[in-house]
Amino acid sequence: MIECINIKKSYPQLQVLKGIDLKLEQGQLISILGASGAGKSTLLHIIGTLDKADSGEIIIDGINYSKKSAGELAQFRNKNLGFIFQFHHLLPEFTALENVCIPGFIAGRKEKEVTAQAQSLLSKLGMEPRMNQKPGQLSGGEQQRVALARALINSPKILLADEPTGNLDKQNAEQVLNLILSFRKESNMTIIIVTHDQTIASKTDYSLTMQDGKIIQNTKNNLNVL
Ligand SMILES: Nc1ncnc2c1ncn2[C@@H]1O[C@H](COP(=O)(O)OP(=O)(O)OP(=O)(O)O)[C@@H](O)[C@H]1O
Ligand SMILES: [Mg+2]
Repeated sequence: MIECINIKKSYPQLQVLKGIDLKLEQGQLISILGASGAGKSTLLHIIGTLDKADSGEIIIDGINYSKKSAGELAQFRNKNLGFIFQFHHLLPEFTALENVCIPGFIAGRKEKEVTAQAQSLLSKLGMEPRMNQKPGQLSGGEQQRVALARALINSPKILLADEPTGNLDKQNAEQVLNLILSFRKESNMTIIIVTHDQTIASKTDYSLTMQDGKIIQNTKNNLNVL
């Protein structure tokens, strides 16, 4: 479903990714661990076609996205990919509910259907009482849950989540993870979660550890906890 071949990325004076190879089958759930600055967000953005690698290939569902135009990439992302950013990126002038709906409207879906689905996602995340607030009126954890609902609104084949539980307390982190796991069961979504949380990582099929722009460890997790 997702294949990265020898991905490299540099900024002036800094080589952030030094040749990343990765292969995920459809329905697989993996985690990426690693110290701050290891290159986790950079890799996730490149896999999500939001950023371009300097060299290497990204193949998703058999299609090579390394050389597609910006318009083709935007359409691909809207239809196939849910992205939860490390820093949310919610639109400040819209309510939580509207933020969740927007990718559905961009996809050309009916307003009623999108709104009902957004409400249902937000209430599964315990956000029903807060869904008419704007992001500035929400806590970090609440914003993160809105970002998860937004990522799921178009039932993407792939979910890329950059520290989706980073701002959450233990109970809410579990709730978010359980929702992600239940979506995976329902829809066979392929999921990559960047996390610093070992408990979350242990619930994924396998964990990759990044250090200094490279994958240095690949651990298969014992999943009888699920
Ligand atoms: N636009 C940029 N220009 C220059 N350097 C950048 C840019 N974006 C990221 N970097 C650098 O690349 C390195 C990797 O950044 P990245 O955000 O991928 O780390 P990370 O593993 O996600 O860290 P964290 O756990 O703190 O989120 C860091 O040293 C960062 O300062
Ligand atoms: Mg990061």
